[in-house]
Amino acid sequence: MSTLFKRTDMCGNLRAEDDGREVILNGWVAKQRSLGGLIFVDLRDKTGIVQVVFDDTIPEDIFAAAEGLRSEYVIGVKGVVRERSAKNSNLPTGDIEVLASSLVIYSQAETPPIYIRDDDNVDDNLRLKYRYLDLRKLKMQRNLTFRHRVTKLARDYFDEQSFTEVETPMLIKSTPEGARDYIVPSRVYPGSFYALPQSPQLFKQLLMVGGTDRYMQIVKCFRDEDLRADRQPEFTQIDLEMSFVDTDDVIKVQEGFLKRLFKELLGVDIKTPLPRLSWDEAMERYGSDKPDTRFGFELKKLNDVVAACNFKVFTDVLAAGGDVRGICIDGGSAHFSRKDIDKLTESARAYGAKGLVWLRVAEGEINSSVNKFFSQEELGRIAAVFEAKEGDLILIVSDRAKVVFDTLGFLRRDIAKKLGLLDDSRYELLWVVDFPLFERDEESGRLKAMHHPFTSPKLDQLDLLESEPEKVKADAYDIVLNGVELGGGSIRIHDQSLQARMFKVLGLSEEECAEKFGFLIEAFKYGAPPHGGLAYGLDRLVMLLLGESSIREVMAFPKNQNAQCMVSEAPAPVDEEQLRELALDIRCQK
Ligand code: AMO
Repeated sequence: MSTLFKRTDMCGNLRAEDDGREVILNGWVAKQRSLGGLIFVDLRDKTGIVQVVFDDTIPEDIFAAAEGLRSEYVIGVKGVVRERSAKNSNLPTGDIEVLASSLVIYSQAETPPIYIRDDDNVDDNLRLKYRYLDLRKLKMQRNLTFRHRVTKLARDYFDEQSFTEVETPMLIKSTPEGARDYIVPSRVYPGSFYALPQSPQLFKQLLMVGGTDRYMQIVKCFRDEDLRADRQPEFTQIDLEMSFVDTDDVIKVQEGFLKRLFKELLGVDIKTPLPRLSWDEAMERYGSDKPDTRFGFELKKLNDVVAACNFKVFTDVLAAGGDVRGICIDGGSAHFSRKDIDKLTESARAYGAKGLVWLRVAEGEINSSVNKFFSQEELGRIAAVFEAKEGDLILIVSDRAKVVFDTLGFLRRDIAKKLGLLDDSRYELLWVVDFPLFERDEESGRLKAMHHPFTSPKLDQLDLLESEPEKVKADAYDIVLNGVELGGGSIRIHDQSLQARMFKVLGLSEEECAEKFGFLIEAFKYGAPPHGGLAYGLDRLVMLLLGESSIREVMAFPKNQNAQCMVSEAPAPVDEEQLRELALDIRCQK
């Protein structure tokens, strides 16, 4: 066993002011170069890299040991800081180096299977398998430290606002967040299962019934759903609930949090109150309930302008109650050739669109993919809706409203990305409010709660609850940042009879309700305060603050695209004995 050189400094913190100081450093060898009588070692710890020099003034055995150093050896170095003759302006420590007087090797290392370099473009699965090596990258350490600062700030802020952090259970009955559950078999009750929480929703409401008044928790949630760049099966929420509040109260406390977060961690001033956009307006203008407002290309409805046209695709859709809408890309003509538009059309199909109609304004004329069905005058009227100018490109979709919104919402952002308009240094935060209470399940055609079944309807719309449920808006709100849903919440129903009406409209029988959330309904019999709350996706929040493109970059050990933990190789089969104990019989094996 080697002796421990007790560290005096971190590698990345040394500066010109430290010139002449004796220091002890510990870390990993990032690089070693031997130049005859001189050996240079780039020494790395989580704060950064510093150059260490061994010259022939030190004992021969130390010089020989330094000569044998290889990448990722773990070492301790004693030495003196001195000014560098050849400064390196790319490194924060580039003005100095450490002239070594002593060396200890704690661990040798084999050649690592991935490069420990921020710009290494290695295959994702390899990165995740060797995550402990990947984490040595300075960027990854910076991301983890930043994440820690976000959670610390959240705890401090909500503590000052009289929130109590309470842990809720992980082995529970299913929660109604709409994804598939991860389930855990019970040994004591063969054939019965726990579910891992999709969120602490029901328990945080019980905490309000229990008089906790203001609850917060930084909590793991589990959802078995299709993975994307901003979705993981196991993710973290900053979860909050408050008693005796309305929407404005919840929003005010959250805006205080966001303002402080941006100021303290990014030095960015957020102007509050933040803009609020109704769900209807968000869809009409941006085709999305999480609009990115960093750029224009707003949707325009063309139903009236094309109502009397000869183009059957439009008129048939209108006759069937659908919509014709479009977006105008300023100066877009020059950027999108026919081929490019074909590609856009292809990607639009994923959102259900059958095609895209385009119009270009060029040399005072309007050229379009539907020239033969429209006169110049008619096309001019469409262009006028967008106030289109020379060089603009208009893209039009006609279909069911949902398909039109989804397609144009996607195209708006996709095109902005292609044109380099997504400026990561801008933070456009806004609330989307007044969500519909219900939506129709596309497959079954049944009504389902858009947020969850405990979300309160707008109280002045209760008379429509049974007669026209789809017109009823909810007391629900989402916080959106640069087109990503950061968090969402609502004011809850605390009135038993209203909750019963809600379940009825959702087509849930009393037995089903009792089976699914009987304990919450029971609790409400004994005095429930008016309450509401919200949960942020912590991973998404950190991802956006750091300008990362995937939440995997801000999680220590994320799952891969196929929901596997590449480090521990989960999920994995269990042995027969365990299955027997759990009374489980595996019928099919992939
Ligand atoms: P919701 O389901 O909207 O609300 O989730 C809140 C926030 O959690 C984040 N999120 C995810 N992040 C990463 N991976 C996922 N798979 C994932 N799913 C959700 C999002 C989202 O906005 N109980 C309610 C909150 C409430 O009503 O108070 C809830 O969980 O950023």
